[in-house]
Amino acid sequence: MNSWGKKYRILFCITGGIAAYKMPEVVHTLVKEGHSVRVLLTKASEKFVTPFLFATLTGEQVYREEDFLDDTTGPTIPHICLAAWADLLVVAPCTANSLKIIARGESHVLLGALFLASPKRGLLFPSMNTHMWEHPKTAFHVKGCLELGHRVVEPAEGRLACGTSGKGKMQDNANILEEIRRFLLPVKDFAGKKVLVTAGPTWEYLDPVRFLSNPSSGKMGYALAREAWYRGAEVTLLSGPVCHGNFYGFRHISVTSAEEMGEQLHSLHEEYDFLLMAAAVGDYRFPTRVPQKIKRGNREFLELSLVRNPDLLVEAGKKKKPQQILVGFAAETENLLENAQDKLARKNVDYIVANFVGGEKSAFGSSDNAVTIIDKKGQKCSSSGTKAHVASDILDLLASLFSGKE
Ligand code: CTP
Repeated sequence: MNSWGKKYRILFCITGGIAAYKMPEVVHTLVKEGHSVRVLLTKASEKFVTPFLFATLTGEQVYREEDFLDDTTGPTIPHICLAAWADLLVVAPCTANSLKIIARGESHVLLGALFLASPKRGLLFPSMNTHMWEHPKTAFHVKGCLELGHRVVEPAEGRLACGTSGKGKMQDNANILEEIRRFLLPVKDFAGKKVLVTAGPTWEYLDPVRFLSNPSSGKMGYALAREAWYRGAEVTLLSGPVCHGNFYGFRHISVTSAEEMGEQLHSLHEEYDFLLMAAAVGDYRFPTRVPQKIKRGNREFLELSLVRNPDLLVEAGKKKKPQQILVGFAAETENLLENAQDKLARKNVDYIVANFVGGEKSAFGSSDNAVTIIDKKGQKCSSSGTKAHVASDILDLLASLFSGKE
């Protein structure tokens, strides 16, 4: 079943580190994605951020240290109620002291009591001075948190707010959000699988300032790579020149031309269980790349010739190992299913994703898509919606091959 887009109840705990000042953006994004978010502030965190700020962003009560064991709140016991309410506990930033409290099961503060009362695994984002992070006691507490089943996302390296440089920097907000999205997706059916995705267009240069290409945005391939990573796979995204900013969680190899993509595929091919070839590879290139800019001069016409590029999918189909699953894409403007089925047979792929190019739902660059996935027996399955949703449907289908739920 496609679990993409499900909404969750997230308890976002902010502890007393300077990176607390960045958390409103993360909380706001989660709220905009449709999740219910409640914020717990430790006493020290209120030196950096205010309850009013998070109450405004979330539309929910903010839980403070003073609410813990407050006899004026009546029969509600915050740590018990919150533990029962939350699907996920996030701690960001997570200070050295908070790691200790969680690892040791201390219950004298609201955060600690909450973790003791909750059967859920937490997602912790430590951030602190480099020496504090490297201290054996911190390592001991990280180990303790891991043993309790929590996920500890290691801090990044860089210049810290305290002026030192090294490990201990809070992960970027975009990476925190990616970790949360991955954690929230319960299916890890691709754990132990290696997935290679090709994406984007290729640029076939004529001279230093001109190239032949197509409007592929690479969004479909990027969505497949992200979804496979969310579901536990080890992922490599091999993409032509497209800008997607955040490749956190998977390996990204950037190439320009079809030939370069072919070289990379040639060396990587063997290692992968799944090859998802979503790139819009240029079918032709110029015979040579002219070293200097071709001047217009007085020319009315400029005749150019093109030579054929190798078909990378056909090459992958020839080299396919017995256990390997090869998925091709077919971009068509007419006779969608006939053309796609022809490619399926001709290129020796296990599945072809037939993609009508044009129209509102599936124009190049659109965030939505509408596809028909065809297997070798000619069985068809349709999917439409955002590219993330379509990616999830494609992986569901592939997962059924090894989960026996066909
Ligand atoms: N493909 C490839 N190498 C190429 C051209 C295409 O690997 N030189 C792959 C694409 O990544 C896609 C599939 O082949 O998975 C189909 O690509 P598409 O552009 O739809 O079709 P073509 O094979 O180029 O055929 P045509 O242009 O005749 O539609």
